[in-house]
Amino acid sequence: MRAKKSNEAPVDAAARVERAREALLGWYAASARALPWRAPGTTAWATWVSEVMLQQTRVETVVPYFARFMERFPTPARMAEASEAEVLGLWAGLGYYRRARFLHAGARAVCERFGAEVPRGVEALRGLPGVGDYTAGAIASIAFGERAPLVDGNVERVLTRLFAVPGDPRSGPVKKHLWALAEAFADHPAAGAVNQSLMELGATVCAPTSPRCLTCPVRAMCRAAQEGDPARYPEKAPKRAPRDEEWTALVGLHGGRALLVPSASGRWEGMLVPVLAEGAVDPAALGAHVGARAVMEHGVVVHVLTHARMSIRVYSATLEHAPSAGTLVALDALAGLAVPKVTLRVLAAVRSSGVAAPTRRR
Ligand code: ADE
Repeated sequence: MRAKKSNEAPVDAAARVERAREALLGWYAASARALPWRAPGTTAWATWVSEVMLQQTRVETVVPYFARFMERFPTPARMAEASEAEVLGLWAGLGYYRRARFLHAGARAVCERFGAEVPRGVEALRGLPGVGDYTAGAIASIAFGERAPLVDGNVERVLTRLFAVPGDPRSGPVKKHLWALAEAFADHPAAGAVNQSLMELGATVCAPTSPRCLTCPVRAMCRAAQEGDPARYPEKAPKRAPRDEEWTALVGLHGGRALLVPSASGRWEGMLVPVLAEGAVDPAALGAHVGARAVMEHGVVVHVLTHARMSIRVYSATLEHAPSAGTLVALDALAGLAVPKVTLRVLAAVRSSGVAAPTRRR
């Protein structure tokens, strides 16, 4: 192992890794959940798609999306041929849309640079859009059996507990130490199973607040369990409160349908949103962009994201003419469109207060 953090001699640490790994592999072979992306014959592309979906999203949520993606985009080439809007449309509801945009860009890069085959090797994988250390390690080890390490939130929790690693795991030195431990674990012919066993343990046994130590296959060698309070690891730095933001949204209405426009940048780049502006913007000014006539107010929608708490004052406006840009959508036919949750919430606010009779403003 490269980095040493505890007082333990490297040789002891290596022996502990080996013991834990054998116990984990036995447990994983007997207890792993049968998930669609673990079925025999899973391609490297399917591994990639599943791993991107699983970042920040629960397994149960991912399962139906994974099935739809594999049916529509069974290969990188099929996704590369599709438009970004179609990929985002199928992704809608999974959140963190940057992941979908990167997956699409990644599929195109694979077609341009690697003859439409997902490349082997962490280095080549790392060079693809959206593929960081974690995803590269996952594809290399799970799909190609390479001895590549990975650390995600689950692995971070398992390793900080097994080895009682103090400090904030997102800080440089602790992160380095965890990757070194993960590297020691992955130095094995079944690196893919080893990595998945660490993640699986974190997902099903070594839970964040109430770890199920009685059923844990590595309890006997867990430093944190020996100390008596495993949940004190990992020692996270206090979370910063989300930033308060004020926004204005204007939904243009024409013939009973709502105008949505592709967001040009930022959180929802490429996705369909109402006319949105940061700040308390005069809705008449916003409406002027899209030829709006009468403006009606629908209250405030509070939309909380990881780093921001958006208070969005919602307006609707009747459009004089059919808009020349954007998409008019029926409020009950949004399925399959690249529509983020914020759009659904804004449209719901307009709908619930009645869009049939907008009142004139000034
Ligand atoms: N979380 C993300 N990827 C995973 C995998 N392959 N196995 C278990 N949990 C995971």
